[in-house]
Amino acid sequence: MSEKKRIFSGIQPSGDLTLGSYMGAIKNWVALQDEYECLFCIVDMHAITVRQVPADLRRRSLSQLAQYIACGLDPEKNIMFIQSHVPQHAELGWVLGCYTQFGELSRMTQFKDKSAKHADNITSGLFTYPVLMAADILLYQADLVPVGEDQKQHVELCRDIAQRFNYVHGDTFTLPEPFIPKMGARIMSLGEPTNKMSKSDPDGCVFLMDKPEDIMRKFKRAVTDCDTEVRFDPKEKPGISNLLSIYCTATGKTLEQAQEEFAGQGYGVFKPAVGEAVVELLRPIREEAERLMKDKAYLEGIYQEGAQRAQYVANKTLRKVYKKVGFVAK
Ligand code: TYM
Repeated sequence: MSEKKRIFSGIQPSGDLTLGSYMGAIKNWVALQDEYECLFCIVDMHAITVRQVPADLRRRSLSQLAQYIACGLDPEKNIMFIQSHVPQHAELGWVLGCYTQFGELSRMTQFKDKSAKHADNITSGLFTYPVLMAADILLYQADLVPVGEDQKQHVELCRDIAQRFNYVHGDTFTLPEPFIPKMGARIMSLGEPTNKMSKSDPDGCVFLMDKPEDIMRKFKRAVTDCDTEVRFDPKEKPGISNLLSIYCTATGKTLEQAQEEFAGQGYGVFKPAVGEAVVELLRPIREEAERLMKDKAYLEGIYQEGAQRAQYVANKTLRKVYKKVGFVAK
């Protein structure tokens, strides 16, 4: 690998890719791919922390790769791979778990939310999930981790774990920084604009592969307020503010420009306009992903080569770590 700084990021194939993950993460991956050495992962091992239908998980993992490419990630430039193909993630995860406190993991908001949602199946995998995420990042000595707002706490924990390991064993891991966009870092549900847009809430969520008519229907139904003014004010007007963020992220316009554009026009004009902007944003992505999904051999070539290149880097870190903790060399 070259002297460029390095990026690692990933998305769980626990559901289809959403507009939230595009605006919070993938859009920045595309923007940063020339400047950084990038690894983009399909984190299937994270996905099984809640129960999955195996055939769906397999289908979504492949489709996620097709969508990554369709969003503009260049497979020639970036290493794209599937997490379970690189066993070093699990291996480093074990070691890092021995440098992570129970109390730290108990404070993770995602764990609290997910364990409340899946109260009948709170596995130890769900609890130690942030340790595996730290391993993902630290294995590649990543400098930057482009994610949405909700992952900031996990990246901070990753830094704490790295710092602790470095303190005990000497300089081993690069300390990663989260990279969170100014606009689009937290896209909210269209149905309940005080909740994050999430793949587990299909009504409030737009998927990258949604058909134009479905996208339009979801935006026309989006919950707003009983006022008529298109104004950015997340506390008083969460629905409209969310639609404005989506509109600006989709079109590249500033909030001022968008507010001016819709001044004096009711929500009946604004909501379909946001829908249309998203339809136009997603149309080429969906069409290209559908085309790529027909070429399984091409996708297979990319993830196989990706795993090989990722393993090369991952192995170097893991060997160093094993030596530092006192394991006998093979
Ligand atoms: P995941 O799969 O839930 O989400 C993937 C990425 O999309 C962002 N995101 C959003 N951004 C804005 N608005 C939303 N509504 C929204 N929903 C999702 C997330 O912040 C994330 O960047 N733990 C991670 C996956 C992961 C990872 C990693 C990420 C595993 N290992 C290493 C970075 C580095 C997760 O569950 O993301």
